[in-house]
Amino acid sequence: MKKEPILKVKDLGVSFSQYTKGLRRRDLKVITNLDVELYEGEILAVVGSSGSGKSLLAHAILGILPDNSTTEGSITYKNKELTQKDKEKLRGDEIVLIPQSVNYLDPLMQVSKQVKISIKDKTNADKIQRKIFNKYGLDKNVDKYYPFQLSGGMARKVLLSTALVSDTKVIIADEPTPGLDEKSLNEALQNFRDIADNGCAVLMITHDIEAALKIADKIAIFYAGTTLEIANVKDFENGGENLRHPYTKALYKALPQNGFKPIKGNQPLPNELPKGCLFCDRCEEASDSCKMIRPDSKEVRNGMVRCLYAT
Ligand SMILES: Nc1ncnc2c1ncn2[C@@H]1O[C@H](COP(=O)(O)OP(=O)(O)O)[C@@H](O)[C@H]1O
Ligand code: SF4
Ligand SMILES: [Mg+2]
Repeated sequence: MKKEPILKVKDLGVSFSQYTKGLRRRDLKVITNLDVELYEGEILAVVGSSGSGKSLLAHAILGILPDNSTTEGSITYKNKELTQKDKEKLRGDEIVLIPQSVNYLDPLMQVSKQVKISIKDKTNADKIQRKIFNKYGLDKNVDKYYPFQLSGGMARKVLLSTALVSDTKVIIADEPTPGLDEKSLNEALQNFRDIADNGCAVLMITHDIEAALKIADKIAIFYAGTTLEIANVKDFENGGENLRHPYTKALYKALPQNGFKPIKGNQPLPNELPKGCLFCDRCEEASDSCKMIRPDSKEVRNGMVRCLYAT
């Protein structure tokens, strides 16, 4: 039997209303068709260049999009479509954001206390908190630290501890590994792997495809506000011959170990999206139909793709 996703985003669209010169209002659609599926025990890495819609996806799931935005499509959690109220209830409890910055922690509270607040079994809270800090190599001195005394890596571990001791089912990490040296990067990636192996579903947003390939189970490729492909990590083996979308194949060939062949052109901006396939200006396989028809998503070889010719 096919496993059911714990969280499913289907055809998400996000528009912002903006005032132009002369106080005329217009809607700018910045996200067109985003799709992701998260499964318990799995890491889905969302990969895409800047402006492709990665953070807005996270904000839509958490219900923290700005007031001047409207959304389309559906976000389903445990088979129920989420309302804004549901999202607010789940946020910080079953669905947790691991942000880039330490600012997410309360600056005036000792970190051990912040973790203990999330522990339901109050009589054993001290023991449980100490055990989880031990697991992450945070020694007893750290219990008394305030957030400003933590390095970025320690802050991430405190946030992950909070997630592990509570009822968290879904972790969303938005670019959690900026500018880390290789050792710290591998450690951070391993933290996310462990948390998934513990049963959580992890959505890891990154522009670092190599980091994603190290620990994720699946990779979603975002482009100009649309999911172009969801591939399994093993599709990136054997010269990438199992990849489905020309953009993913091009990203693969742009990796240093695969020849570093750059992709010509740029991702289109929200106000200048082509009528047909979003990738058509840069695609070496584009036909006349590609300029006219926006490809629907289809399932191909146990993955998802939006390309007219993917088989
Ligand atoms: N508040 C906003 N108002 C208008 N446009 C926005 C707003 N937030 C994001 N965008 C636009 O939406 C697109 C996706 O943004 P984002 O999700 O932040 O990209 P990423 O995280 O992949 O770099 C970009 O084109 C960005 O300019
Ligand atoms: S639909 Fe056409 S332009 Fe778009 S990726 Fe496929 S072949 Fe290329
Ligand atoms: Mg972002």
